[in-house]
Amino acid sequence: MILSIANQKGGVGKTTTAINLAAALAQKGHKTLLIDLDPQANSTLSFLDMEQIGPSIYDLMVDTSVEWGTVIHKSPILYLDIAPARIALAKFETKVSGEFDAHFRLKDRVTEIRDDYPYILIDTPPTLGLLTVNALVCSTHLLVPIQSSYFALEGTDDLLETVEKVKSRPNPDLELLGVVITLHDKRTVLGRDIKAQITKVFGDKVFDTVISKNVRLEESPAYRESIFTYAPDSSGAMDYYNLSEEVVKRV
Ligand SMILES: Nc1ncnc2c1ncn2[C@@H]1O[C@H](COP(=O)(O)OP(=O)(O)OP(=O)(O)O)[C@@H](O)[C@H]1O
Ligand SMILES: [Mg+2]
Repeated sequence: MILSIANQKGGVGKTTTAINLAAALAQKGHKTLLIDLDPQANSTLSFLDMEQIGPSIYDLMVDTSVEWGTVIHKSPILYLDIAPARIALAKFETKVSGEFDAHFRLKDRVTEIRDDYPYILIDTPPTLGLLTVNALVCSTHLLVPIQSSYFALEGTDDLLETVEKVKSRPNPDLELLGVVITLHDKRTVLGRDIKAQITKVFGDKVFDTVISKNVRLEESPAYRESIFTYAPDSSGAMDYYNLSEEVVKRV
């Protein structure tokens, strides 16, 4: 499975979901690769030190002579590897737009290593630009984190429209795996309303697991740890463990 985690809205929990879902899958013993496709490099920095990193995913996508072996790093978690991003990735769009294979750069490279990893997760930037499209063209599945907020569904139309475009030509097999509600506050009436509202639109695509607000999830990246080692007894660890169970079941 190659799973993009995407939503062009900023700060909805894409990276938090990518890093902790990847960690959960690895801890179950599945060899997992987390590709950071966001120039902000938040997923990368959640596990690695920038000083350790040589060539990044950008180099792989613009130069076919760059090898995966020089890009991939082991994370502190057994079975979890990282393909890091650097800020240079922000140049990708201007560098390749207009080239006939601009949408296929990631897919072409991932084909070389897909058999090495039963799970490949891709963290994407908060745009619907060429990077996110590269992720969608390359993926078998899409997971959309939606923040539990009053404006939760704003923008999802544009995301789904992009998904339909990708499905209509470059990647007909792309499948919406599910929608996960993040940053949820179950104590408020608003929180409960929003869950009902999101379910009305996405039906059974909404995961049963809801990711509640948990300050431990915010803290763990600063210690280069996933939630499972940083705060194994937290609600955040429980939520992401439950989500990983559902993800595995839905494949
Ligand atoms: N369930 C949660 N509880 C508490 N804080 C959270 C939770 N999920 C995410 N956060 C925090 O909210 C902020 C935004 O989350 P995150 O970086 O995962 O979103 P994002 O969608 O990747 O953002 P961007 O669009 O900038 O890439 C971060 O500071 C993160 O630590
Ligand atoms: Mg992010």
